Amino acid sequence: MSQWIGIESLGFFTSRYALSLRDLAQERGVDPDKYLIGLGQEQMSVPPPGEDVVTLGANAAQRALHDTDRNSIDTLFFATESGVDQSKAAGMYLHRLLDLPATCRVVELKQACYSATAAVQFALALVAQNPRKKMLVVASDIARYGLDTPGEPTQGAGAVALLISADPRLMVLDPVSGVYASEIMDFWRPNYRDEALVDGRYSTRMYLQALCQSWTVYTQNTGRGFADHDRFCYHLPFTRMAEKAHIRLARECGIDPLPRESLDKHIGDSLFYNRMSGNSYSASLYAGLASLLDRCEEDLAGKRVGLFSYGSGCVAEYFSGIVTPGYRSSLRTTEREFMVQDRTLIDYAQYEAFYKRATPIHSGNAEFPVWNTGAYRWVAVRDHKRIYESVP
Ligand code: HMG
Repeated sequence: MSQWIGIESLGFFTSRYALSLRDLAQERGVDPDKYLIGLGQEQMSVPPPGEDVVTLGANAAQRALHDTDRNSIDTLFFATESGVDQSKAAGMYLHRLLDLPATCRVVELKQACYSATAAVQFALALVAQNPRKKMLVVASDIARYGLDTPGEPTQGAGAVALLISADPRLMVLDPVSGVYASEIMDFWRPNYRDEALVDGRYSTRMYLQALCQSWTVYTQNTGRGFADHDRFCYHLPFTRMAEKAHIRLARECGIDPLPRESLDKHIGDSLFYNRMSGNSYSASLYAGLASLLDRCEEDLAGKRVGLFSYGSGCVAEYFSGIVTPGYRSSLRTTEREFMVQDRTLIDYAQYEAFYKRATPIHSGNAEFPVWNTGAYRWVAVRDHKRIYESVP
């Protein structure tokens, strides 16, 4: 496989509405520091009616494709665990909204938060087969737990779109990785439920176990060690998880304790978007990568970034990439930072109203009021058909 395949462009989008975790803590009678320090979260994105994984994903993809000839796109992989239909791929709606060519195949992938990484691996292989083609990977999710459950402060929403091609202006991805899979029940969502079920503390232990296992396979397959990586991005259910994971990885590699300044340098810049938007499941690792590329003051050109993808249930993959010289000219940092910082902060009552309204429409008919959902809107369900439109 050619070594020059990877991420050509990256689009990130999250809800225009967010709840401060200080306000949630006050409502739940919890010390805010539990959420702000213990979990490392500051705000969580709350999708309004009319926003779902289709509109989030379309907004992210529009950003990734801003200067791309859409006819060059061979395949759209839509990765999600918040799918909107048991049969039709959510990506089909994007196919129309983004005006993709009739020759572009579309498929949806699921394995909890891991599925976008599977899509990236498939995309790398397809580009290797035909380097003139580009693959669009869209990861889009809404993390939703029960009200007043331990998982509630780790909710969030967001989408990342990655254009994978033989012109990797942001990052060359190494196809050699380490995979670990094991059937466990740490987090799941049966078809009849709108909220995830989770064995929370067990899930964090399984995350760390899967990290160590996939890292071991990765080091065997690549011959690389801890010191061969300049920065590290983790799947981020909440940002404190990455701290725990990185300290654990360092210990596995014989570095104990890992100095605080090393921890901050290795992972600090990757945490910002997730701290502000919450868990975006399949998109979360890649939102971390966007945050790293946008916020790191040091020029990362030529630096190797370790990437850990984890999806409950569980599949994990450790892989890495090298940042491309000149990557900054292909980023849209200002727009992304503005998007995250310039949002409407809603109060607790509005959060609960959005939360309750977000449940699926079993009657088969519903019209949604207009909220700010970016460039695309889920307008209605009519005769059990979802209707989407571009917002002028
Ligand atoms: P909890 O049990 O309520 O919280 O929920 P806790 O009591 O463990 O406290 C959390 C941390 O806050 C602790 O730190 C406390 O000490 C600290 P730690 O001991 O871990 O270092 N704390 C405070 N710190 C400062 N000031 C205070 C204070 N009070 C407490 N006053 C739990 C935590 C993660 C279990 C819960 O949020 C949850 O169930 N979350 C959902 C599951 C999850 O995110 N799992 C992560 C791994 S699995 C995964 O990543 C996959 C996933 O993304 C889904 C997928 O793959 O599809 C979830």
